[in-house]
Amino acid sequence: MPRLFSGLSGRLLWLTVVFVMLAEILIFMPSVAGMRMNWLRDRLDTAAAAGIVIDGLQPAELPRAVQDDTLLATGTKLIALKKDGTSRLLAAVDVPPQVDDQYDLADISMPTSMKDALNTLFFGGGRVMRVYGPIGESEMIIELVMTDDALRKDMLRYSKMMFVLSLVISLITAILIFLAINRMMILPIRRLTLSMRKFSEQPDDPSRVFTADKSRGELAVAGRFLTNMQVELQRTLRQQKNLADLGLAVSKINHDMRNILASAQLMSDRLVDVEDPMVRSFAPKLLRTIDRAVGYTSEVLAYGQASEAAPRRRRIRLADLCQEVRDILAIDPEAGIEFVEQIAADLEVEADSEQLFRVIHNLCRNAVQALANLDPEDATVVRRMTISAQRIGSVVSITIDDTGPGMPRKARENLFSAFRGSARSGGTGLGLVIARELVLAHSGTIALVEKPGPGTQFRIEIPDRPVSLEDYRARA
Ligand SMILES: Nc1ncnc2c1ncn2[C@@H]1O[C@H](COP(=O)(O)OP(=O)(O)O)[C@@H](O)[C@H]1O
Ligand SMILES: [Mg+2]
Repeated sequence: MPRLFSGLSGRLLWLTVVFVMLAEILIFMPSVAGMRMNWLRDRLDTAAAAGIVIDGLQPAELPRAVQDDTLLATGTKLIALKKDGTSRLLAAVDVPPQVDDQYDLADISMPTSMKDALNTLFFGGGRVMRVYGPIGESEMIIELVMTDDALRKDMLRYSKMMFVLSLVISLITAILIFLAINRMMILPIRRLTLSMRKFSEQPDDPSRVFTADKSRGELAVAGRFLTNMQVELQRTLRQQKNLADLGLAVSKINHDMRNILASAQLMSDRLVDVEDPMVRSFAPKLLRTIDRAVGYTSEVLAYGQASEAAPRRRRIRLADLCQEVRDILAIDPEAGIEFVEQIAADLEVEADSEQLFRVIHNLCRNAVQALANLDPEDATVVRRMTISAQRIGSVVSITIDDTGPGMPRKARENLFSAFRGSARSGGTGLGLVIARELVLAHSGTIALVEKPGPGTQFRIEIPDRPVSLEDYRARA
């Protein structure tokens, strides 16, 4: 059922009534003024016809009884005729009344006549007016004095009729518009809304996809877009579900694997103490391999944690944080890698220290890995990574730069996409993805900076203001 008061069509119905009535008021003003002028002119003409006859036949004053009859017949109190400059009183009551208003019908503009009409309508009744005007094309002028009661009564009747008529017109228009709008807009919109509701209740049910019609109207186009969107959404949903199932399985396996590896790590740590030269030669390799495996599983697990805690932002000293990163990286002094820190000791950043640590650690570790692979034979190659940072207004900008070989093509093309970006053996391609996610959770940005020389440069910008990771994930 269309709703008469709250629905779109109902509101349009009432608006149409109001608008048509408004238009009718505009039309009413000139038309009631015209009606009044015609009324007065009629009176003047009738009196003029009688007046000319009387004037021609009876040079003397009319007998009293004839005067009274004439006045009664024309509804006036006085009739005078002006001819060749002289004015003749044709008929008049004994005591001619005091005149309140005067109207010259020969010379009246539309605005004045509208004003006069309103005046009569609102303030008239019992007032005496003198009305005069030329008779036809002649030079003669006829003049009447009468009360405005009859005029006002006729005007009121006319107004009432106009009002009823406008009401009927506006209602008919409004109902037609109401029906048309209902048919052309409301019904299709309802169909769209209903389909959206049903679809959102169970988005994986293909039978709930909207069936759009083929017409070219705007709503039909919207309907076709809705259909496409729903179909697309269902496909994505199916994919997502498969991926989620897969992810769950992987993360379970991964979790157990990490525990197994952790015990293997514990045990193999003891191998270092064994004197056997055989064991001594392969123990470090074994340790590194297990370390790598542990790192791999931990990273995958970190990514799989769909609900990473929202950042708990504090003011932290960036220089200290970078020092910790440097410590944990434990760069082999023999590798010849310089670690340059260009951060003012008092530079503060508003961030979750654990998360920002992971971001910087990920980027630095990548840089160190890249530098370590840089032409191991050649000792003259510069192996330097630089962390610099500065605060610009409320944003802290951190740059991590290295003189390594630069991002490989594969990594560049799949920058920040999970599992695809890795271009090194044993890499997961998750480091940058996780870094980006954490930075975005801080409402920050992370970008690979194009630089002219060789090497890689990442820039992170972190503004002072918290935002939750859930929010970001919901947005993403
Ligand atoms: N500083 C860098 N210099 C050269 N290549 C880099 C650098 N940082 C990242 N990369 C490339 O980007 C890839 C993706 O990095 P990342 O997301 O951390 O995954 P992972 O380290 O597990 O491979 C790396 O495999 C590497 O090839
Ligand atoms: Mg990495």
